[in-house]
Amino acid sequence: MPINHSISYAMLFFTKEKIQLFQKLGTYLSCMILFSCNGNSNPPLLEENQYNIIPIPARLVPQAGRFLFSNDTKINFDGADDALKIALNPLFQKLELAAGIDLFKNISPAQNTTSENFISVQLSTSDKISDEGYNLTISKNRIEIQAKKAAGVFYAVQTLLQLLPTAIESPSLAAKNNVWSVPCCEIEDAPRYPYRGLHLDVARHFYDITYVKKYLDVMAMHKFNTFHWHLTDDQGWRIEIKKYPKLTEVGAWRKETLIGKHSDRPRRFDGQRYGGFYTQDDVREIVRYAKERFITVIPEIEMPGHSQAALAAYPELGCNQLPVEVATQWGVFNDVFCPTEATFGFLENILTEVIGLFPSTYIHVGGDECPKKSWNNSLFCKNLMAQKGLKNAMELQSYLIQRIEKFLNSKGRKLIGWDEILEGGLAPDATVMSWRGTEGGIEAARQGHDVVMSPGSHCYLDHHQSLAPDEPLAIGGFLPLEKAYSFDPTPRELTPQQATHVLGAQGNVWSEYLDSWEKLEYFAYPRALALAEVNWSPMAVKNYEKFADRLAAHLLRFDLLHINYAKHLFDVNFSVKNDAKNGIAVAAESRDKAAEVRYTTDGSEPSILSPIYKNPIKIANNCTLKAAAFKNGKQMGRSLSKKFNLHKAAGKTFGVATPPHGNYNMGGIAALSNGVKGSDTSFGDNEWLGWWGEDFDGTIDLGQIENLNSATLRFYNDNENWIYLPRNVEILASSDGINFQTVGTEKDIFKKFGAELAPSIVVPLENVSCRYLKFKVQRFGRIPTGFAGEGKEAWLFVDEILVQ
Ligand code: ACM
Repeated sequence: MPINHSISYAMLFFTKEKIQLFQKLGTYLSCMILFSCNGNSNPPLLEENQYNIIPIPARLVPQAGRFLFSNDTKINFDGADDALKIALNPLFQKLELAAGIDLFKNISPAQNTTSENFISVQLSTSDKISDEGYNLTISKNRIEIQAKKAAGVFYAVQTLLQLLPTAIESPSLAAKNNVWSVPCCEIEDAPRYPYRGLHLDVARHFYDITYVKKYLDVMAMHKFNTFHWHLTDDQGWRIEIKKYPKLTEVGAWRKETLIGKHSDRPRRFDGQRYGGFYTQDDVREIVRYAKERFITVIPEIEMPGHSQAALAAYPELGCNQLPVEVATQWGVFNDVFCPTEATFGFLENILTEVIGLFPSTYIHVGGDECPKKSWNNSLFCKNLMAQKGLKNAMELQSYLIQRIEKFLNSKGRKLIGWDEILEGGLAPDATVMSWRGTEGGIEAARQGHDVVMSPGSHCYLDHHQSLAPDEPLAIGGFLPLEKAYSFDPTPRELTPQQATHVLGAQGNVWSEYLDSWEKLEYFAYPRALALAEVNWSPMAVKNYEKFADRLAAHLLRFDLLHINYAKHLFDVNFSVKNDAKNGIAVAAESRDKAAEVRYTTDGSEPSILSPIYKNPIKIANNCTLKAAAFKNGKQMGRSLSKKFNLHKAAGKTFGVATPPHGNYNMGGIAALSNGVKGSDTSFGDNEWLGWWGEDFDGTIDLGQIENLNSATLRFYNDNENWIYLPRNVEILASSDGINFQTVGTEKDIFKKFGAELAPSIVVPLENVSCRYLKFKVQRFGRIPTGFAGEGKEAWLFVDEILVQ
């Protein structure tokens, strides 16, 4: 696949001669780095100073004036070691490349630090500054960086780069009319969390190291410090292991790949062999490249589940020892490692090679979604459980993870795994990555274990970010930018002491549906930038509106870097309100307050001639509302559309016995009767409401006695995401809201409608006259063995309930 970005960050690092120059200078250097603008009168103030820094610093005090970089700017180190000096590299290299300013030649020992002409960048060892923190003072004649460690200098440099004109990201000499200045300010900055992670799944789709480097560049730019590399899964084994060559000869290649959605029937395949892997040299190169950017690479080797590609290479390690193929579709598979001595030997040999390649303290061992079917059917496993006194297959998984933990600990490493490693008993020193909500993380932190928060609801960047019908195919879910931004990794449930175990958050980029790098970037950005701010910036300075403003400017840099980010930032948002008195009304809003929103109600595209939105629009008839933001006579984002289908319950409000789960309650209870259907292809919108481990019991007051005809309910059905159709629906009617009697039922819904993604269940209600209707929906219950989330409660998702 050709790569269309024309500069690699590697090119931005020191040449040998320049490193030698630094080393020579090291002898003279005392504790300061000085940038000097010789003979520099104040640069022209071209515009009001702007500070579009992402993530926003902990403390930033804007000041008037600008510091101008030029070929006369002097740099002076004082007592800094080579690591600290090298951390300045990206600044020098980018200035040289884009601005033609060569600061390498101006490096000099500490001198003239009091001179007015000198602008200094100072290194310090103040205790007030944390290991990754920095202070940055920019005044007209001086830049000072104070940092304790090289990481702090590196992050100060990232901030400086973001303060320079956008053109600093040009891959070649930028236009001459740029003024290479930065706005004056005082910054004191340090991260909120020590673990600031992004994950990349290279198993479902493979991206060569050029792309991985591009990913690391964007991470570094936004002060992420941990790259979680998901290297193995059912659909591909992607890391060379010398002792087991078949892992990549066989396990890195699948015969074909699913086309379309996993839930499509019939399933279709492309018939194309697909695969690839990283050699150990590739891995070393990525680890080196990441280290230069102060990023730790954590490798993930999945066990005991998600191991079908490994078993395709070495089938003798499965419980039934039968040949299997590298998986060609998505999901969870029953062929998993059998916990035999041969398997332990195999895994330990692999981990020995992995440890040799990755210096990270943590090794990720997966542990998620391991169906226990093959273990429960295995005489070997039954005997092993009896011999070890293990009560069930969960405890057997815990036995496996604990043994692997001992092995990792014996090599001086620590185990991290997905939150299923809590089941059957957590390994004594394990760190938990909480993905099925934050509950696993809360539980682990209460047990005194460290935790990385990565809940699907806020951190899964493979989910849809817009509900527009022309969005690319995705796994499902709905995670708009604002929701990602709203994430607080430290749950309120934790005591301050327990909260210290929350190391930070991680965005996960699963790649089942991300079959090109361009598509991956579209899903990853800008949501990853929201998570950068979640991880770095203190709550007190976080503000979505301001973030969005900074982002709009910042993304111009992504254009220069040829990053295919999603542009939903400028789309219009609707919020649909209904109340029993006023019926349904829609507020439309553009995030950009300077833009005007124009709308239509006849389904046509809004134009510059359409009415301007001023007050909430009352919906009195069936209609399709469309709106878009316009500025200076030009449409900004795309138009948003909502279709209203009014019925007897529309605009009335439900009372429910149990509210929806907090993660899937975006539209509130009003979503059940606001005249808008949920998405047909995604359960994560404002219209679908989710209950977990609870039946639905909701009653609506129609306001007066009505003669009815039918009620229509819809349920979402996505078993891979643990969402199941309910078992039964019962509808009861009442005229006083106290005495109810059953007027309709539908039984065995999950059996009858199991092949549909969002089936409509129509319950006839002829001859029913009532004011109140009660809907009782019996949930599916626990997920059966062999399916994703087996043994857990299934989710129940309900959208508009139509009463006619
Ligand atoms: C996961 O998403 N299965 C960790």
